[in-house]
Amino acid sequence: MTIDTEILTPDAAGIERAAHLLRGGALVSFPTETVYGLGAHAGEDKAVARIFDAKGRPRFNPLIVHVADVAAARRLVEWSKMADILAGAFWPGPLTLVLPLRKGAPVSDLVTGGLSTLAVRMPDHSIAARLLQEADIPVAAPSANASGRLSPTTAGHVLDSLAGRIDAILDAGPCKLGLESTIVGLVDSPRLLRPGGLPAEVIEDALGAPLGTSGPGIEAPGQLGSHYAPRAGLRLNATTRRDGERLLGFGSVKGDLTLSAGGDLVEAAAQLFCHLHALDTMGDHTIAVAPIPEHGLGRAINDRLRRAAAPRMTPDQAE
Ligand code: TXA
Ligand code: MG
Repeated sequence: MTIDTEILTPDAAGIERAAHLLRGGALVSFPTETVYGLGAHAGEDKAVARIFDAKGRPRFNPLIVHVADVAAARRLVEWSKMADILAGAFWPGPLTLVLPLRKGAPVSDLVTGGLSTLAVRMPDHSIAARLLQEADIPVAAPSANASGRLSPTTAGHVLDSLAGRIDAILDAGPCKLGLESTIVGLVDSPRLLRPGGLPAEVIEDALGAPLGTSGPGIEAPGQLGSHYAPRAGLRLNATTRRDGERLLGFGSVKGDLTLSAGGDLVEAAAQLFCHLHALDTMGDHTIAVAPIPEHGLGRAINDRLRRAAAPRMTPDQAE
């Protein structure tokens, strides 16, 4: 499906329009000092699902939430002394911090990919700052490129791969850095999860300690093995409910809960985590899952389901 992509100018009216669209659940590309982001309301499952749909991402990689200031970040994550030091030294700027997600934080499970941590960053770009202030919501944003394409540093790059798939783009010219943010995990000891626009040495100087590399306790980008998996076992491609099972439906397969009766994959993605959680809390039933077509967002849904269905390590969790 193709939609009209509005091209907005970075003046008061354009920023206000972009903020209005974001609050309403639309997809809006906006500039940052690193690369253009593809923003959506981080608290809205459907809006976040549309990010993955537009990018054609075959996996629900967790997303970075963009905030206007430290106070907004503190509402979402368990802030720490080290976070204070690094944000104090480098925010706004090309540094993303991964911290424990705060209980009850208004963030869709699709943003974290079901992880108990959240990546947050405050971009150093006057237009992004005004947009985030005006929108006054946490904005989830990956780089605004179709999956497998280079990160976009101009509005033209974004439109080359996403025109017709996103609601609007705020065009404020080329990005200053052209390199994604550096990602540091602060869940246990500080670790470099992705090198980027801010050199690791500079971060180590500010911390007065070396950065570890990714390891136990945190997941590096691209190594997302242990996402949320239900306690109950999963049986995939089920068209009927067997004894002792709960059925998660899709399309014509009607379940105890149904991802999308109309067969809409964006709606299905938006419902995936909350329905799995809900079925999981209904008891130790196996969760049977209706077939999900292997195209568009269906690929990411199936990827997640397959990994949730894979045998677990501990005997009490194993099938
Ligand atoms: O400069 C940037 O960071 C740009 C601009 C738009 O802000 N954003 C960006 O997002 O590069 P993206 O989605 O292309 O890359 C985000 C990376 C992914 O590799 C993802 O795995 C990682 O951040 N990430 C997000 N949340 C995480 C978490 N809780 N733990 C570990 N890694 C996480
Ligand atoms: Mg990217």
